[in-house]
Amino acid sequence: MKIREEEIKELVDEILDSKKYRQAGLNRQTVTDLIHQEAGHHTSHKKLIKAVRRKLHNIVAPYLGEPDYDDLSSRLEKINNPSLDSPELQAICYEALSQHASTAERIPHMDSFYNQLFSETGTPEILLDLACGLNPLAFPWMGLPITTRYHAYDIRQPRIDFINRFFRKIDIVPLAENRDILVNPPDIQADLALFFKEAHRFEKRQPGCNRSFWANLKVAILAVSLPATDLSGRHSLIPQHRKLVDDNLPRHHTVRELILENEIVFLIEKQG
Ligand SMILES: C[S@@+](CC[C@H](N)C(=O)[O-])C[C@H]1O[C@@H](n2cnc3c(N)ncnc32)[C@H](O)[C@@H]1O
Repeated sequence: MKIREEEIKELVDEILDSKKYRQAGLNRQTVTDLIHQEAGHHTSHKKLIKAVRRKLHNIVAPYLGEPDYDDLSSRLEKINNPSLDSPELQAICYEALSQHASTAERIPHMDSFYNQLFSETGTPEILLDLACGLNPLAFPWMGLPITTRYHAYDIRQPRIDFINRFFRKIDIVPLAENRDILVNPPDIQADLALFFKEAHRFEKRQPGCNRSFWANLKVAILAVSLPATDLSGRHSLIPQHRKLVDDNLPRHHTVRELILENEIVFLIEKQG
């Protein structure tokens, strides 16, 4: 169906004001883009809204969990000048990380995960965390200096605000941004970009979109991680994820694999 800009604005408002998303602080561009993408495939307003909501549910993934940012922020404010190994600071990070399924899975082996990753990629001075979720809260276990330029991107404002509050607390430049990285990809030159556990959702949002997204990033190494098994832990997802990466690998790029516990990490680099 053809849809006017004015109507798109109204649809975006309708979705963002709905009970499900009112408190989520979602990026407007994400919803606008979904409407543009879906409009051509549907013949009625009702069907369009339904399709956009279905895609949004998969992107926002509310079932993965969300911490209570007010509570965590007020606890964070009570700590003075914490070092990265402060037990009070780490307790808050643990709690935040444990509230989201993607980071909760990494908690038992965070140190070794980053240790192995950075021993392959080198220690990044400029790091992008694409579709970061709560992963920046793992900073105390990354073994990186606080001079690291850590650019983190997500589409939920309360998450971004909390990450920046945390960065300020540990004296890191607060570079977290509410940005839809597919609609508005970062063009910062970086040593390393983390794109963890999101590439398969990108494929559902827009089949094949990873290819140009990866190709246009200005990073020396792109680390794409995907779950190595399904949620039951019994079925390997490695063959299908390898295919996803092969299908989207930009020209003149190489890929090598690391298995880090229950994630497979593909390290993608330009040849030469
Ligand atoms: C499955 S979680 C993974 C989080 C994190 N990368 C990790 O592995 O711990 C996906 C995250 O990506 C965010 N996200 C989804 N699409 C995005 C987009 N287009 N731009 C920025 N963030 C996005 C979601 O809000 C969510 O926090």
